[in-house]
Amino acid sequence: MGKKIFSGVQPTGNLHLGNYLGAIKNFVDLQNEKENQCIFCVVDLHAITVKQDPKELKKNIRETAATFIASGIDPINSIIFNQSMVPAHSEAAWILSCVSRIGWLNRMTQFKEKAGKNKEKVSIGLYSYPVLMAADILLYDASHVPVGDDQKQHLELCRDIAQKFNNDFNAPDFLKSPEPLIQKEFSRIMSLKDGIKKMSKSDPSDLSRINLTDSKDEIINKIKKAKTDPLQLPKETKDLIERPEAENLLGIYSSLKNQDLEKSISEFSGKNFAEFKDKLSEILIEKIEPISEEIKKLLNDEKYLDKILLEGSNKASIIASKKIKKIKELVGF
Ligand code: TYM
Repeated sequence: MGKKIFSGVQPTGNLHLGNYLGAIKNFVDLQNEKENQCIFCVVDLHAITVKQDPKELKKNIRETAATFIASGIDPINSIIFNQSMVPAHSEAAWILSCVSRIGWLNRMTQFKEKAGKNKEKVSIGLYSYPVLMAADILLYDASHVPVGDDQKQHLELCRDIAQKFNNDFNAPDFLKSPEPLIQKEFSRIMSLKDGIKKMSKSDPSDLSRINLTDSKDEIINKIKKAKTDPLQLPKETKDLIERPEAENLLGIYSSLKNQDLEKSISEFSGKNFAEFKDKLSEILIEKIEPISEEIKKLLNDEKYLDKILLEGSNKASIIASKKIKKIKELVGF
C-alpha cells in the first residue's frame, strides 16, 4: 500500500530555496512514487496569524499554487487546494484546541522565536497555529508528512493531540498519528548571510535567500555576495565543524545535485570559494530558473490557477467533510 501524504506551505510570499529543498522537492519525489496519494495545501489560514495585506495574500495564494505546479506537482493526480476553502479545517482546529493542553503549546519553540519579546502582543492564532496544523493533517488520515526540520516539533504535537482525542473519546486509532518525513541531510537550509540563521521569508535582507522567482542574474549576484570564511574548501567532513557558511553552501550544492555531502567535499577539496561559487550558481540556475520561468508563466493565467484550487478544494472537501462529521459525532454534537 502507498503512503497518504499531506503537507502545507504558507502563502506569505518569497517562497525560497529552503522551502524547495526542505519540502517541495520532496513532495514531487513522493508524488512520483506511483502508489502514494498526495495532498498539498496552500495554508492561507496559517498565513493570517500575522497581519497580511488582503490583495497581497490573494496574489501569494496563487503564487504558492503556481510554485507547486512549476516544481512538478501534477494537479490532476495530486490534490492542490486552498485551506480556507475547506471549512472542516477551522472546525476541526477548534475542537482539537479544546483537547490540546496549554502546557504543550507553551513548549513550541517556533512560537517563542516568532513572538520574541512581543509575546503579549502577537495574535492568539500565532500561538494556537500548531493545533490548526494538526487539524490539517488529521482530517485526511495522513500517514506521512514531508516537512523541513523546523516543523518537527509541530508534528510531535500533532501526534500527541491525535492520541489524546482518541483517548478522551474512547476511539482507539480513530485519528491517525502521522510519521514525519524529514530528510536526514539538508533539511534545514540556512541564510546566505549567516550560516547559523535559518533561510526565511521574513528576513529583511533579500540577499539572505534565493527566491524561487529569482532571475539568473539575481542568483549569480546573491551567490557572489553569500557569506563565506577565509579558508579554502574543506578536505573532509570533519573540517566543516564551526564553518556553518561553508557547510550550508556545500549542503545546497549536494541537495541540488542529489549527491551526498562527502562527494561534494571531494569535488572541491582545497579549492577556493570563487571556483565553488561559480559551480553552485550554475547548478542553481539549472534547477531554479526553469521553475522561476514557469511560475511567471502560470501567474499570467489566474483563471487556470483559480480553477486548480477550486477543483482541488472540492476534492479535499469530500475527504475532510466525512472525517469532521465523525469527529462531531464522537464529541456528541
Ligand atoms: P512554511 O510555510 O513556513 O514552510 C513550508 C515548508 O518549507 C520548509 N522550510 C524549510 N526547510 C528547510 N530549510 C529552511 N530554511 C526552510 N524554511 C521552510 C518547512 O519546514 C515547511 O515544510 N506550519 C507549516 C505549514 C503547514 C503544514 C501543515 C505543514 C500548515 N499545515 C500540515 C505540514 C502539514 C509552515 O508554516 O511551513
